Amino acid sequence: MLTFILVESALETIPKEIQSHPSVTRNARSHGKNPAEILLDRSYHHAAMLKVRDAAKRGRPDLVHFALLEATSTPLYTDNSLAVFVHTYSDYVMNVEQGVRLPKSYFRFQGLIEKLFREKVVKSDDRLLLTLKKQRFDQLVSELDPSVTVGLSRLGERSDPNEVATQLSGEKKPVIVVGGFPRGHFSERISDHLNAVYSIHEYPLEAHVVIGRVLYEFEKVAKLSRAG
Ligand SMILES: C[S@@+](CC[C@H](N)C(=O)[O-])C[C@H]1O[C@@H](n2cnc3c(N)ncnc32)[C@H](O)[C@@H]1O
Repeated sequence: MLTFILVESALETIPKEIQSHPSVTRNARSHGKNPAEILLDRSYHHAAMLKVRDAAKRGRPDLVHFALLEATSTPLYTDNSLAVFVHTYSDYVMNVEQGVRLPKSYFRFQGLIEKLFREKVVKSDDRLLLTLKKQRFDQLVSELDPSVTVGLSRLGERSDPNEVATQLSGEKKPVIVVGGFPRGHFSERISDHLNAVYSIHEYPLEAHVVIGRVLYEFEKVAKLSRAG
């Protein structure tokens, strides 16, 4: 089984220091919600975000939505051969259980994740769909105990999706790591725990493109090695 982790993801509820900012209270009121319970989103909270640390890396829940749809729409995930985790900027870890069909509509996704931050689990008919807990990336990695943890970054050693997939498929418990943020690169709290970092293209790519390319190659390589 391959494990995929989207790291330092731009997914969080409104941080305390800007909960009373007018752009936040206005947006929360218009949805009849408490400012502490809504997702930080640059599209609505740009003015408030000027006051938060690492603003360029935060407030893009839409990117996480794309990335998760990409990963959970693959045959690899359908076959229960892909475990999916989202590590967030503020050190929460969300586990997407096997066989989950995430909403394609962003507004339904937003509602689901806000419920997850409130209740820490989302179930359907007693079946666990999503869980959330406070956990750092290094803690998640030691819990998973992988045989190799490979990061993807434009700044990594130049490779291509097939080479990366071939290396991963030769491993017993491989973990692949992609950034869930719009700008910047892995911070040391991530890069210190990676065994290797590869670039799959000279251009900076969107996370969902990187995920689609590498998972597709992994599916092909894994199929070939099963057939051979
Ligand atoms: C939108 S990018 C983050 C922006 C960053 N400035 C960059 O150029 O990679 C999101 C993630 O996609 C992955 N990524 C983007 N371009 C890549 C590339 N050329 N090779 C490998 N991974 C890439 C990285 O994991 C990155 O953290």
